[in-house]
Amino acid sequence: MKKLKKPLFVVFLCGLICLIGCANRTVSDSKPKLSLAKHFNGLFYLGAAVNENTILGMDSKSKKIINTQFNTITPENSLKWMFIQPEPNKFNFKAADKYVEMGLKNDMYIVGHALVWHSQLADFMQNIDNPKQMQQHFENHIQTLVSRFKGKIDAWDVVNEAFEEDGTLRQSVFYNNLGEAYIEKAFKLAHKMDPEANLIYNDYNVYKPEKRAGILNMVKQFIANGTKINGVGVQAHWDLKSPSLEVIEEIILDIHAAGVSVSFTELDISVLPSPWEMVGAEVSQNFSKFEGDPAMDPYPNGLPEAVQDQLAKRYQDIFNLFVKHSDKIERVTFWGVMDKHSWLNDWPIKGRTNYPLLFDRKYKPKTAYKRLLELKTN
Ligand code: XIL
Repeated sequence: MKKLKKPLFVVFLCGLICLIGCANRTVSDSKPKLSLAKHFNGLFYLGAAVNENTILGMDSKSKKIINTQFNTITPENSLKWMFIQPEPNKFNFKAADKYVEMGLKNDMYIVGHALVWHSQLADFMQNIDNPKQMQQHFENHIQTLVSRFKGKIDAWDVVNEAFEEDGTLRQSVFYNNLGEAYIEKAFKLAHKMDPEANLIYNDYNVYKPEKRAGILNMVKQFIANGTKINGVGVQAHWDLKSPSLEVIEEIILDIHAAGVSVSFTELDISVLPSPWEMVGAEVSQNFSKFEGDPAMDPYPNGLPEAVQDQLAKRYQDIFNLFVKHSDKIERVTFWGVMDKHSWLNDWPIKGRTNYPLLFDRKYKPKTAYKRLLELKTN
């Protein structure tokens, strides 16, 4: 009897599970069932920047997409100096701790962005004109952050945007107080605080040969003098045409030839007219004169199919290249999850309607998402 009873019970249970499963399937039909990260598994990590609403649990839909589609995360703003240490030695770890907790819970490759950056810096740091004082804050910030998340944050953007377009060093408040050695100091200190963490130099407009040369000279110097650096982060705020696939390939080959890995750290593709002929991401650019200009905001009520297809094709072409060079690429991270929350709606011109990501304003996967899932990975 017992033997008979057990299989019957199992059959009943299986039926029940199937019923629940079938019901669920109908409900979630519109949601993606496949995972992008799994699709590219073994080639490179695939991720998204997480905004503070999502980190703090106020956007469960974005969170769900992140947890099912990606295997690496970057905090869009929560670890930046102005938020995490707004006043001298007063640290606010609320969002940062939750962010790291989210990554650990979902077994993600967790990125820390960014330790040293002239932008989104705390007010008290902006006008320091005293090397000793700067050195103190600089060390305290790096030591505090890296040691707090030792063994949890897998990779740090140690220094962000230190180079000018011509490949010389930006005259930032760090440079002005500490001289050019500040970058190496930051890397050495981060390494000391967490010897296992991957250390990245991150920047935009890496497609410009002079800028790339400046960055890669520094990388080669670091390798020669034994300063640990694992990779160059290419922000990849691109558009439908620029940079060309040939140039993107050059970027990958050059960084690899310098001896480190490539990460595409902030990928998004703007479909809107650019107010200047270049692409890139100097956060301080101000184009307020274009605000409200309909010519600069052509798709306020939805993206025409033709442009949607162009976007999908562009992502497809770029990812074909990534797959081709996957041995050189560590990670690809989208700068956000869905179009409505993209920073590109407000940069470089405020109040536009942009469509740069893989999920639309209703959290639905776009054509580009589907094309990436169809992409051949071998
Ligand atoms: C952006 C964020 O997405 C915005 O929310 C914020 O207002 C400004 O910064 N380069 C970087 C990122 O390294 O940190 C920037 O993120 C985009 C450009």
